[in-house]
Amino acid sequence: MQTLVIGATGQLGSDVVKAFRGHQITTAARHAADYDVDLAQPESIRGCLESTRPDLVVNTAACHNVPACEESPSEAYAVNATGVAALAESCQEIGARLIHVSTDYVFGHLPPGASRRPWREDDPTAPLNVYAASKLAGEHLLAAACEDHAIIRSSGLYGQSPCLAKGGRNFVQLMLHLASERGEVKVVTDEILTPTYTAALAQQIRRVAESEARGVFHATCQGECSWNEFASAIFEYSDTEVRLLPATSEDFPSPVRRPGYSALDNARLRELSLDVMPDWRAGLRQYLHESSADVA
Ligand SMILES: NC(=O)c1ccc[n+]([C@@H]2O[C@H](COP(=O)([O-])OP(=O)(O)OC[C@H]3O[C@@H](n4cnc5c(N)ncnc54)[C@H](OP(=O)(O)O)[C@@H]3O)[C@@H](O)[C@H]2O)c1
Repeated sequence: MQTLVIGATGQLGSDVVKAFRGHQITTAARHAADYDVDLAQPESIRGCLESTRPDLVVNTAACHNVPACEESPSEAYAVNATGVAALAESCQEIGARLIHVSTDYVFGHLPPGASRRPWREDDPTAPLNVYAASKLAGEHLLAAACEDHAIIRSSGLYGQSPCLAKGGRNFVQLMLHLASERGEVKVVTDEILTPTYTAALAQQIRRVAESEARGVFHATCQGECSWNEFASAIFEYSDTEVRLLPATSEDFPSPVRRPGYSALDNARLRELSLDVMPDWRAGLRQYLHESSADVA
């Protein structure tokens, strides 16, 4: 199968390229890929799809530095919304299946009095910041333009390749770095997510891509934790000695609003017997094991 991976040089995209071994892969990004594509320039997308004529397109590219999106909404929308729409139109024209990665941030605060449970695909969305709103707009525009699509929302990604939009270090590396520099680390207990290893997510994306499943899917590792519990597991599994202190989001004021609870339920994947995501702790162990194998 001819498969085009957009965002192939990024944290998730590099694992998607590995997970799709056996496909005839073409990579695309703004730099350092087979094709220079800028989602903010619709003609570059059309040009790439017309010359590569893929059967399948996997899009992991996004404008996703959250504070930068807040400062430049037009750039965020040009990539995450209208750029994704142009990609979807081109896929529809050439008859390609489109798999697109989206985010847990499409959800907002829990409704007052609501009991906490992981968000399902059909729960109401309520984005709290420009990044999230532009990604949700992209989901809607894509669904309207391309019939054969799957939108995969995930959360808290970390992988072996650097997250280009966030300047390199993922959360695991940041915790290990801070532990070695300071010996004491403060991490919030009031923001809940599901940390997700990109290598596991890439396998899940392949599973969905090779099925006939369409629509919106949640795909994170299983379970949930606070950032503080995530940090605690990182230190435990890497045998790192450090004093881990609790904090709240008020200790780290930010101009950007984010959901306090964004764990996702892989409900539709389960219904279709497609869910291959590991528990988040197993994902973390696998990541640490593979990182040390890389160093060795
Ligand atoms: N990171 C997270 O915690 C997280 C959580 C939930 C969902 N997501 C979603 O997961 C996806 C993958 O994230 P990631 O962590 O792998 O990001 P990443 O490391 O920043 O990679 C993004 C990739 O997209 C390319 N790219 C960026 N802007 C582009 C543009 N305008 N046109 C074409 N290519 C562009 C980048 O390469 P160039 O810069 O060279 O173009 C890179 O290859 C994104 O859709 C993001 O919204 C991420």
